[in-house]
Amino acid sequence: MKAVVLAGVKQPLAVKEVPLPELGAGDALVRVHAAAFNRRDWWIQQGLYAGLKFPIILGSDGAGIVEQVGDQADRHWLGKEVIINPSIAWGDNEAFQQRTFNILGLPQDGTFAQYVRIPAVNLHEKPAYLSFEEAAALPLGGVTAYRALFGRAALQAGEKVLITGAGGGVATFALQWAVHAGASVYVTSSTQAKVERAMNLGATGGVLYTGPQWREELQEQAGGFDVILDSALGAAFEEYLELANPGGRIVFFGGTAGDIPPLNGRKIFWKQLSVLGTTMGSPKDFANMLMFADQHRIRPVIDSVSPLAAADRVLGKMETSSQFGKMVLSIIP
Ligand SMILES: NC(=O)c1ccc[n+]([C@@H]2O[C@H](COP(=O)([O-])OP(=O)(O)OC[C@H]3O[C@@H](n4cnc5c(N)ncnc54)[C@H](OP(=O)(O)O)[C@@H]3O)[C@@H](O)[C@H]2O)c1
Repeated sequence: MKAVVLAGVKQPLAVKEVPLPELGAGDALVRVHAAAFNRRDWWIQQGLYAGLKFPIILGSDGAGIVEQVGDQADRHWLGKEVIINPSIAWGDNEAFQQRTFNILGLPQDGTFAQYVRIPAVNLHEKPAYLSFEEAAALPLGGVTAYRALFGRAALQAGEKVLITGAGGGVATFALQWAVHAGASVYVTSSTQAKVERAMNLGATGGVLYTGPQWREELQEQAGGFDVILDSALGAAFEEYLELANPGGRIVFFGGTAGDIPPLNGRKIFWKQLSVLGTTMGSPKDFANMLMFADQHRIRPVIDSVSPLAAADRVLGKMETSSQFGKMVLSIIP
């Protein structure tokens, strides 16, 4: 089969002929119709991710059709259009993942290939209203945003939410989930064009996080926030303590802008704030996320759809974050 292979740190993604994956008990073989990128793929290529191993076929997000199963009990999946949950071996505890938890696309070969091997328990029927490209855009970003907002921050209708870095894959889902949950959403971004795209998706307001007075501008627009969802950390984090309403929840799942400099933690206890970490989602989060998207007929925002051969060029866009929404590979056009 054809697959996009990463041979080492800072190497280009190259299309190669590789053997079909072998199935074990409980596995399924999915013919991938479309796959999508995450920042994770970029971190791995840059050598900035834990547990690197090469060669590796990247890709956590995908949708396709099941062609083989390892167990008779999974025969009902054969020929079905599926979306793949990339959270492998979460475990039984809703509160956190077990030690053997891992994410499709490292250490296991991922979806940037004509076929992928995945435990059958990670298969879900593709929502019928979504194309393969749209379905492929949904899994990792969709579930991370869903658990962050609803599982961790317990977002309620009518609350005010700040989503930082609105152009990001997870952030765009968070914006869509929060708007459809009846929250009032504000964003930060690096460009005015992205703030406007966010407002077209239902955000009430937004500012440039690159501006000198961004915190004051946000306070002017919105007052304070009940929930702040962030994936950047860095120097801006201290301002979130200021922007949060008393009883507010600050939830984060990434550190794109680096560590948090020393901050005045007294604001956290005085304002009764909760600072919450979150990662991916449990099988229940994934199923609930699919149900929520289906119920509201939410379509992922797609930045671009490209062929497998363009994978390296597409991933390179992450260097400047010029994308808005998800970058998709169409493997069977
Ligand atoms: N823990 C988990 O389960 C999990 C899951 C998914 C992602 N992540 C992590 O979360 C982060 C985002 O992932 P993603 O896939 O959504 O990435 P992405 O699509 O590449 O988006 C990254 C976005 O971060 C924003 N950004 C960059 N610098 C920023 C800053 N200083 N302040 C605020 N925003 C800033 C940019 O937004 P603008 O374009 O609007 O400027 C950029 O588009 C990454 O670090 C990723 O590794 C973690």
